[in-house]
Amino acid sequence: MAFADGIADFRSDTVTRPTPEMVEAMASAPLGDDVYRDDPTVNALEEESAAVTGKEAAIYVPTGTMGNQLSIMLHTNPGEEILAHELSHVRSVEAGAPQALSGVAFRTVSGDGGQITSADVDQAMSMAGFYPRIGLLVWENTHNLSGGRVVPIETMEATSSTARGHGLTIHIDGARIFNAVAATSVPAERWAGVADTIQFCFSKGLGAPVGSIVCGERAAIDEIRYLRRRLGGGMRQAGVIAAAARVALDRRDRLVEDHVLARKLATLLADRLPGSVDAGSVETNMVRVDFSKVGLSWPELSDRFDSSGIKTSAPSGGAWRIVTHRDVDAADVDRLVTQLV
Ligand SMILES: Cc1ncc(COP(=O)(O)O)c(C=O)c1O
Repeated sequence: MAFADGIADFRSDTVTRPTPEMVEAMASAPLGDDVYRDDPTVNALEEESAAVTGKEAAIYVPTGTMGNQLSIMLHTNPGEEILAHELSHVRSVEAGAPQALSGVAFRTVSGDGGQITSADVDQAMSMAGFYPRIGLLVWENTHNLSGGRVVPIETMEATSSTARGHGLTIHIDGARIFNAVAATSVPAERWAGVADTIQFCFSKGLGAPVGSIVCGERAAIDEIRYLRRRLGGGMRQAGVIAAAARVALDRRDRLVEDHVLARKLATLLADRLPGSVDAGSVETNMVRVDFSKVGLSWPELSDRFDSSGIKTSAPSGGAWRIVTHRDVDAADVDRLVTQLV
């Protein structure tokens, strides 16, 4: 359902507001000082997240960006390169953090839907000794800039095994890994099993107001705890927000509802604006629309949306991304589609 003010916000799954259950959990959470490691709510969240991903330990961080960057700091040395998809979030939308904070560059591949193959890894490693050393392979699943596509587990397992053979360490930007779980029924533990560290966000489709987590072996997480301090990411009575994250994690199965809604939207658009959507590519909670098929300029459409209480991101490069989440429903989707024709 739209927000209380009637706004249906399709810009991102980050816009959700805490549920009454989250607010209640936040109000009653037992607290301590997490930098001293004695906030029971944060400790519980870290234990639950480690268990869900099959890792030894976990560390709560303010944002997905910080979780990714701490992992990159852990796994790389200055002068190295990261092997990643060209549209990966860590490369494209984290404000140059890998270059600025870790002194690393990128070796990129451009596979469909965020995929990286064993051949890509072999090719990248074939120039070892001449090109900059590759210190890390980064996966992103689901793949945001490819429209929320799922990188298949078989691809991740095969390629990661090749990467391991070359001695690479592996990180997963799993900001939306539970969308991949919901779309495939492959458990989080299996996806996480390919990597040394996995970051996931409570503040995306899981619907918590704040926070992400990095999971990995205990020694890796201990080192990330030290690096988090360096970045000023140690939070004190963080149980206030971790309480909502615990509820979000517990309710993760509801993500399938977002996927059903995204498919409904894609079907309506394909029907009303033929050629605008490749419905088969809608695998999770994002719909990519070819804006050239919409028949209205963005300023015109944006005006219509403004007056009917709808928000979406502006199209970029002709592609227009619409995201479903807990705070929009079928009536809001109908309202959006009605504005287009
Ligand atoms: C794939 C992916 N990774 C990382 C992030 C960063 O998360 P945050 O906004 O919490 O820093 C995002 C945010 O949208 C994302 O989509």
